Amino acid sequence: MSVKVAVVTGSNKGIGLAIVRALCKQYQGDVYLTSRDVGRGEEAVKSLSSEGLNPKFHQLDINDVSSITAAAAFFKEKYGGVDVLINNAAIAFKMADQTPFAVQADVTLKTNFFATRDMLTHFLPLIKAGGRVVNVSSFVGVRTLNNCSPALQQRFRSEDITEDELVGLMQRFVAETQKGKHKEDGWPETAYGVSKTGLTTLSMIQARRLSKERPNDGILLNACCPGWVRTDMAGDKAPKSPDEGAITPVYLALLPPGATEPHGKFVSDKEVQTW
Ligand SMILES: NC(=O)c1ccc[n+]([C@@H]2O[C@H](COP(=O)([O-])OP(=O)(O)OC[C@H]3O[C@@H](n4cnc5c(N)ncnc54)[C@H](OP(=O)(O)O)[C@@H]3O)[C@@H](O)[C@H]2O)c1
Repeated sequence: MSVKVAVVTGSNKGIGLAIVRALCKQYQGDVYLTSRDVGRGEEAVKSLSSEGLNPKFHQLDINDVSSITAAAAFFKEKYGGVDVLINNAAIAFKMADQTPFAVQADVTLKTNFFATRDMLTHFLPLIKAGGRVVNVSSFVGVRTLNNCSPALQQRFRSEDITEDELVGLMQRFVAETQKGKHKEDGWPETAYGVSKTGLTTLSMIQARRLSKERPNDGILLNACCPGWVRTDMAGDKAPKSPDEGAITPVYLALLPPGATEPHGKFVSDKEVQTW
């Protein structure tokens, strides 16, 4: 039997690193720690090695399509595809950051929504039968959804929203922030939140598409929240450790063979949440 493989984006630190740690202990296959910066990635591999774990490494900057395609080609060549993909990489401006909101919106959506979508565009065709795809989103995306105009909420929650329509909505948010008109257009004042509303919606759209286009492949794709976790992103006041934050993403990555759900859901603390 061929060796199985799991890939985690943005895993040189924080929750991503903790996901790799947990997978190294629990997953029967090769586990790839990936990082946009080779030095930071290799340091992280070394730190896990010192714990007696044995992750492999590949460079992967989700903002760089040539890095995505090079990694995709590597996994296709070496493993014939990917069994588990965890899209964890993301950014967030700090509350106190004075960068103009329109710039924050552009930069945040570029990584958290558009670059993660690029990952999915290039990696979904590689996901093998029985594969698991986990998009690390956030409860902030749910709160943001609830603070959108009723018309936007209706579209994000609808069963018939297409990926093109969603991309158009994300582009519209960025464009409206540039005109200073996003509030009038029904959007709340949070670029990170909108990026995660978009990512959760994208997960639901792509799960529906997988069910339609690959009905017999048993792939499960979900979005999740790790909880509020002590990392560089969230600070040291958060209640969960990175290892605790890894629990729900790893649970979704390791849903047993033959499982049929959850699929296309938003999951927190291992429970499907209302969207
Ligand atoms: N912490 C929380 O309380 C919390 C709550 C809800 C959701 N989340 C989500 O959990 C995930 C992990 O967050 P975290 O708290 O662990 O954040 P973190 O400590 O800031 O780690 C983020 C990771 O993403 C990487 N990254 C950023 N941009 C990248 C790119 N273009 N290509 C590849 N990697 C990139 C970072 O790499 P560098 O080191 O190179 O910057 C880093 O490894 C994110 O999706 C976040 O939105 C976190």
